[in-house]
Amino acid sequence: MTNKHLLPVGQEPMIYNPIKQLISAGINDILVVTSTEHMGHVVNLLGSGNQFKCEFTYKVQEEAAGIADALLLAEGFANGEKIVVILGDNICDTSIKRNVQAFEKQDRGARVLLKKVGDPERYGVAAIDERKVIQIEEKPMAPKSDYAVIGYYMYDGSVFDYIRTIEPSGRNELEITSVNNIYIQDNQLEYDILEGNWTDAGTIESLQYANEIMYRTSNKILDI
Ligand code: G1P
Repeated sequence: MTNKHLLPVGQEPMIYNPIKQLISAGINDILVVTSTEHMGHVVNLLGSGNQFKCEFTYKVQEEAAGIADALLLAEGFANGEKIVVILGDNICDTSIKRNVQAFEKQDRGARVLLKKVGDPERYGVAAIDERKVIQIEEKPMAPKSDYAVIGYYMYDGSVFDYIRTIEPSGRNELEITSVNNIYIQDNQLEYDILEGNWTDAGTIESLQYANEIMYRTSNKILDI
């Protein structure tokens, strides 16, 4: 069985969208993390990065131990610098460049992107005021808002130390939501509401919607 991230949405494999997002935001040094099982297929598809005018580095996550666990593999790659993280199944037709530029201006801390959704219980959900995220709950049964914290995250160099302090969740994963909540406690989490059409592709319905969004734009990312 192949990796979900290699399935076509519109006319391209799903993983092309997050890669093109990073490149549209001026990031050309890209680490790809996937499982042992899928690494072969992923490398076959993406290669060195020449085709995208970027450079890929690859790392294997041996167990499905969560997004924060996967991120820990990026510590050497990041080498103390700020990083932008995108989940491979998050699809958006509009560039995140402006959000990345806003993060570049932050002295420290982290930045997350939010989107209003109809089914917040599927996501990390943010309780917010006009300026700050107050709390994030992972897949809450009674969501405090309709704002999902979506799969675009920006972190300063502290993130790896923070990950080392968190405990696995009920689904036995190191949750990215736990990491983001540490930044909240530290008063260091900023947010933007994402512009453009977005979806993840974690269900049949959302995969169908991802396909629709990418079909409509011929897989182009609108540069704003
Ligand atoms: C993950 C995160 C969740 C986030 C979502 C976005 O969920 O845990 O907070 O809202 O990605 O796609 P998962 O894909 O693990 O269900």
